Amino acid sequence: MTTTRAAVLVEAGRPAPYADSRPLEITELRLDRPGPGELLVRVGAAGLCHSDLSVINGSRVRPLPMALGHEAAGEVVETGGDSEFAPGDHVVMAFVPACGHCDRCVAGRPALCGPGAQANGAGTLLSGSRRFTAPDGTQPHHHLGVSAFSEYTIVSARSAVKVDADLPHEIAALFGCAVLTGAGAALYSAEVRPGDTVAVFGLGGVGLAALLAAKAAGASSIIAIDVVREKRDLAVKLGAAHTVAGGPDAVEAVRELTGGGAEKVIDTTGVVPVLEQAYAATRAGGVTVTVGLPAPGVPLTLPALSLVAEERTLRGSYLGSCVPRRDVPRFIGMYRSGALPVDALLSHRLGLDEVNEGFDRLHGGEAVRQVVTF
Ligand SMILES: NC(=O)c1ccc[n+]([C@@H]2O[C@H](COP(=O)([O-])OP(=O)(O)OC[C@H]3O[C@@H](n4cnc5c(N)ncnc54)[C@H](O)[C@@H]3O)[C@@H](O)[C@H]2O)c1
Ligand SMILES: [Zn+2]
Ligand SMILES: [Zn+2]
Repeated sequence: MTTTRAAVLVEAGRPAPYADSRPLEITELRLDRPGPGELLVRVGAAGLCHSDLSVINGSRVRPLPMALGHEAAGEVVETGGDSEFAPGDHVVMAFVPACGHCDRCVAGRPALCGPGAQANGAGTLLSGSRRFTAPDGTQPHHHLGVSAFSEYTIVSARSAVKVDADLPHEIAALFGCAVLTGAGAALYSAEVRPGDTVAVFGLGGVGLAALLAAKAAGASSIIAIDVVREKRDLAVKLGAAHTVAGGPDAVEAVRELTGGGAEKVIDTTGVVPVLEQAYAATRAGGVTVTVGLPAPGVPLTLPALSLVAEERTLRGSYLGSCVPRRDVPRFIGMYRSGALPVDALLSHRLGLDEVNEGFDRLHGGEAVRQVVTF
């Protein structure tokens, strides 16, 4: 048995500033031994993603209490009998455990794994188990099979990807969500090709990873759109040719800069009216991709005729449509070669006790990727 300090979301919808309302409580929990096919992982670093914030603010409803954090890297301490991993292995966690057997997994689309989605919705590991226990006997739920705002965690081996031990945990962690999602959205969902014009709406960790991957894929011109000026400035440093301030005028600005719209447009804001803008800023024949996770039930309104008459494609992208076991090593290789300098996303390092303050920064648009380091 292991004990661990973890950030547990006790109640959703508490008002910001979170430094005052403290929705995440740092609690000492007991962790079971890993079950068959599970790994006990000492977490090295865990990133703060907007999807955590959406659980905190209540726009994504999850069973509570829940040990949050889903973008992480660490070291295997003990295995529950899975032969593929050994103590000492460094791993990155992906936020969908892929069973490997369901029709979606067999079709090469592990991001859509049925049992994985069911476990994530229920707040359990892939096995259906919960492995954390609080002093009062309650069992906090797992967040997306990872729960990484914790010194130690248990994950399904199906959530883990082995990585080289010389990659710092704080860099490796980014590959688990921001890079898989953003780079995958650009390379697999939008299929950015040499010479494409690309627009990226939203320049957080996911959007900037998409921008870097679009550049690596040979986009001829990238337009970066955000409401926060500092993020637009960073986008220019990372290769954007133009920036546009977010808002209703953004569509006309993108259309003007591209002579009628960008060929590939990626929305990473999670704001439905911005997805409508992204669609309108896409050129006829082009592709609009969204990775945003707005509150369920928010409708999207589009001129339906344009889909046909302008041969447009609108595509959703979950986990960047990636195959984590293929793409985490692939994107790390691109990072190492200098083609995907994702260390530029890392804006803050914090201790576990500062995690509420970190979510204030994310909420206020003052941070790109912050990582809790252990
Ligand atoms: N599909 C997936 O697999 C997946 C994975 C991770 C995150 N997500 C989702 O992707 C989104 C982005 O995540 P993130 O962690 O990068 O978030 P983030 O908060 O770091 O970035 C979002 C950016 O959008 C900008 N923005 C907000 N409103 C805007 C507007 N009206 N116009 C232009 N820009 C605007 C913000 O200033 C911010 O920079 C979230 O919805 C998150 O839940 C999806
Ligand atoms: Zn995420
Ligand atoms: Zn599956």
